[in-house]
Amino acid sequence: MEKKLKKLSKRVNFYLSSYLSKFNSSELTAPMKYGLFPGGKKIRSKIIFDVGNIFNVKNKNLLILAASVEAIHAYSLIHDDLPCMDDDKLRRGKPSTHIKFGESTAILAGNSLLTTAFEILSDKNFRVEEKIKSKLINSLSRCSGQTGIAGGQYLDLSYEKKKVSLQKILNMELKKTGKLFEFCCIAPLIIKKNKKSLRSFSKIGKDIGLLFQIVDDLIDFKGKTKHAGKKTKKDIKKGKATIISLLGYKNAVKYANKLKKKIYIKLKSHTTKANDLRETIDFIMERTN
Ligand code: IPE
Ligand code: IPE
Ligand code: MG
Ligand code: MG
Ligand code: MG
Repeated sequence: MEKKLKKLSKRVNFYLSSYLSKFNSSELTAPMKYGLFPGGKKIRSKIIFDVGNIFNVKNKNLLILAASVEAIHAYSLIHDDLPCMDDDKLRRGKPSTHIKFGESTAILAGNSLLTTAFEILSDKNFRVEEKIKSKLINSLSRCSGQTGIAGGQYLDLSYEKKKVSLQKILNMELKKTGKLFEFCCIAPLIIKKNKKSLRSFSKIGKDIGLLFQIVDDLIDFKGKTKHAGKKTKKDIKKGKATIISLLGYKNAVKYANKLKKKIYIKLKSHTTKANDLRETIDFIMERTN
């Protein structure tokens, strides 16, 4: 799995890097690239390819989808680490973007990565019908803004040091993380105009995203900074509302295992074609970073 992710990471990073050098580079290009590269696990990209391959979507189109999603993800991490949010100084094993470049530059580089995602999707090199393109842009917007990452991040911060219900925690995690995973799972189907599977993959995507965030919370609780590439044991200190803070570590592990089983059941009808996706879900559970 690590090998597959590394290979994919190279491809996506190469695409993003040439995209940023080709088009209107600026003083912000360096902090943008710092936030992007060498950069993270590329789990979201992997899911786009896993689902895309189930439905025979062209690799070139999957690569473009992956680049746009990774740009948004990198933006969200740059902003997540700011002093006004989680105040984290270490990200992906190096100083956070605002530590390296200063806060205002980090905010602007983040903003620019967010818009880069939509630049990439609206580019003429993305060869899909205009109608499909606008559907993709519309969907990615809704997964990123107030009904997605931004809205979820707002809830995450406003729940600090408060006791909130399981329902509310799940809704927050779904928005801040689940929605982007949902996009990864439905975007290939939008390209294929496959309305039949859209609903089930929308649910599968949200569940995978939720599972991913719960495991991230578990890693924060038990994991090592050295492995994670970011400071661990911070959620308790900040009083973050998580499933662990509500139900305890053991029950959170149980919850994650149940959720994984639920996702597997939803994938049942997809036989061996979904094996790569199954492998990615297993990796999400077993990872240490
Ligand atoms: C971290 O995401 C932020 C969350 C949504 C939990 P990743 O764990 O995918 O971060 P990278 O891309 O691998 O650094
Ligand atoms: C962040 O969740 C989710 C985002 C949308 C950025 P966390 O705050 O738990 O992510 P880490 O642990 O800092 O990577
Ligand atoms: Mg956060
Ligand atoms: Mg954080
Ligand atoms: Mg975390």
